[in-house]
Amino acid sequence: PDPLRIGLAGLGTVGVGVIRLLDTNRDLLAARAGRPIELVAVSARDRHRERGIDLSPYGWEDDMAALAQRDDVDVVVELVGGSDGPALTLARAALGAGKPLVTANKAMIAHHGLALAELAEARDVALKFEAAVAGGIPVVKGLREGTSANKLERIYGILNGTCNYILSTMEDTGADFAEVLGEAQAKGYAEADPTFDIEGIDAAHKLAILAAIGFGARIDFDAVRTTGITRVQAADIAQADTLGYVIRLIAMTDVEPDESGAPRLLQRVRPCLVPKSHPLASVDGPTNAVVAEGNFSGRLLFQGAGAGEGPTASAVVADLIDIARDEVGAPFSIPVASLAKMAPAEPGHRMER
Ligand code: HSE
Repeated sequence: PDPLRIGLAGLGTVGVGVIRLLDTNRDLLAARAGRPIELVAVSARDRHRERGIDLSPYGWEDDMAALAQRDDVDVVVELVGGSDGPALTLARAALGAGKPLVTANKAMIAHHGLALAELAEARDVALKFEAAVAGGIPVVKGLREGTSANKLERIYGILNGTCNYILSTMEDTGADFAEVLGEAQAKGYAEADPTFDIEGIDAAHKLAILAAIGFGARIDFDAVRTTGITRVQAADIAQADTLGYVIRLIAMTDVEPDESGAPRLLQRVRPCLVPKSHPLASVDGPTNAVVAEGNFSGRLLFQGAGAGEGPTASAVVADLIDIARDEVGAPFSIPVASLAKMAPAEPGHRMER
């Protein structure tokens, strides 16, 4: 069988992880995909940065969008990041050229996911973003396919590994916020701009994506009411502890009827007191966890590494296997035109301090 030939843009933590995974699990991937998955060309902002991997077997493009135009590239993987700029240019170029796109870019999907999905649907190609939400946890697939027979009641959980690492480490060591943030950055969990993590914006991006998939609603990032963790102090954590609680940054969405019964979408990210007996209270470190409650499935808990090289690469390559199997699917479970336009249950605002 013909190999699936990949063009990969972005050689940061996740990009390097994808290259290592494709290499390490080569035979297993070919067996699962029904054909080899081969990286043929790469692109990144800085060609010469030391990454600890050999790039010489792959073609190079200075212009990321040129990956989409190469005859030897069947599918484009976008791991550049940023809601606009080169990532969006590349995404549009790939889908516009009728090539499937795999991305880990939650900001881009939160802002432009509907337009990109329309483009993908018009060209009948896949747009996949498992790695955009909760790193290695297959929660996009879980909500899109695993719970597809259910009406979901609510979705909530811990969607930012950096904040969870900071809060749980402050809890364990009494260390101060800035020191622990530095550690999370050094370990590669934090965004290039950690403001997105600590102000809750990264979790809001992911929540907006899950709400759209879980509730069949048009994605509405601007309606997420968002408060970060920058004002949480060691003393707050100690006080919560004496009362039997931990503090976690919780992202939550559900659908509430308004006075006339019309559905309204509630989306919130904020630090919450979580009783120590709740499963989310024992989620420590850069771990993510998502609870989804379906009317027939009951309560499901998805838990695992929400960031980092291996877990996020695992999600990217799972999408590539689907594409190698010629699975297209609607990016948001149902066609964009069928997604419900739900009014927000409360006005959104970003960066409440
Ligand atoms: N900065 C993100 C986090 C990375 O800490 O969860 C994964 O999206």
